[in-house]
Amino acid sequence: MLVRIAAGMLTLTLAAAAWNEPPAKNRGRELVENVCTYCHNLDRLRGKELSREEWRGLIKGMISEGAPVTDQEFSMILDYLVTNYGRRPAREQQ
Ligand code: HEC
Repeated sequence: MLVRIAAGMLTLTLAAAAWNEPPAKNRGRELVENVCTYCHNLDRLRGKELSREEWRGLIKGMISEGAPVTDQEFSMILDYLVTNYGRRPAREQQ
């Protein structure tokens, strides 16, 4: 009985650990949802269709406003935004 409870708890713990570490492809989205909502909500992104260079410039602008983004996070955020809010040709190439 006790063993079964312990096993159940282990399963839950593992599930929780997996939940906390989403696959890398979701990291960009997660970063945008966390970092980019410090100062405004994500409505700012709605309808945007920017090129990679334009997004790069915009994120740099946000960083100069105070967005806490590391170099590594920068490229994940950039990839996510270009994929989801990129210019049409960029999106179709994906
Ligand atoms: C430290 C505060 C802060 C953070 C964090 C932040 N922003 Fe902003 N953002 C602003 C301010 C202030 C404005 C309005 C001024 C402006 O347009 O430059 C803005 C405006 C915008 C706009 C509208 C710009 C336009 O020209 O239409 C977009 C898009 C945007 N932010 C995206 C992002 C993204 C993507 C992130 C995450 C990488 C982010 N923001 C994080 C402060 C922030």
